[in-house]
Amino acid sequence: MFGPIAETLETERLTLEPLEVGHADEMTEVLGDPELHVFIGGEPATLAELRARYRRLVAGPAPYHQEGWLNWVVRRKDDLLAVGTVQATVTPGAEGPQAAIAWVIGVPFQGRGYAGEAAAALTGWLRDHSVAGLVANIHPENLASAGVARRIGLHPTDQYADDEVVWRG
Ligand SMILES: CC(C)(COP(=O)(O)OP(=O)(O)OC[C@H]1O[C@@H](n2cnc3c(N)ncnc32)[C@H](O)[C@@H]1OP(=O)(O)O)[C@@H](O)C(=O)NCCC(=O)NCCS
Repeated sequence: MFGPIAETLETERLTLEPLEVGHADEMTEVLGDPELHVFIGGEPATLAELRARYRRLVAGPAPYHQEGWLNWVVRRKDDLLAVGTVQATVTPGAEGPQAAIAWVIGVPFQGRGYAGEAAAALTGWLRDHSVAGLVANIHPENLASAGVARRIGLHPTDQYADDEVVWRG
């Protein structure tokens, strides 16, 4: 384990809840559309698969790994519906801790600024917890994700990770 421990975060319209295994039930439907996987690969998980994945994420990395796995479910305040997830993997860096960050918003909830709002809260919290560098890997055709990255102050670099552009900030 390395770095800060996830806390509940609040934005104007959203609550970011630290991930629990019990979130898998509602997230199976929120994340169930194959369209979500066009740029990130894979396919929708079944309830059993998502429960198993969340169990691994909540347990965190093996103690000898210098890594923190931080995951949140993004919930809308007005009707309490879960709309997506954000995550940060925190590791030591030469100039202080750094975080690899990512976001997913369910198809019915996209295009309303939720990813940008949640990512801004996530990155503000990470910076408040001494995370010095942020990185996100984004497929070059994933314009919505690039918009999220730009909103939180990341910039595309000329580096690639597989077929994704490495953004930093
Ligand atoms: C990427 C994703 C999280 C964006 O979620 P969202 O809540 O719809 O995003 P937002 O509404 O906050 O929009 C983000 C920005 O992208 C822009 N945008 C949204 N959809 C877009 C589209 N289809 N094409 C171009 N730009 C788009 C928005 O205008 C906004 O930019 P702005 O802040 O300059 O106005 C969502 O599309 C998703 O989950 N995709 C599948 C998983 C994925 O690709 N995750 C990212 C891995 S790096």
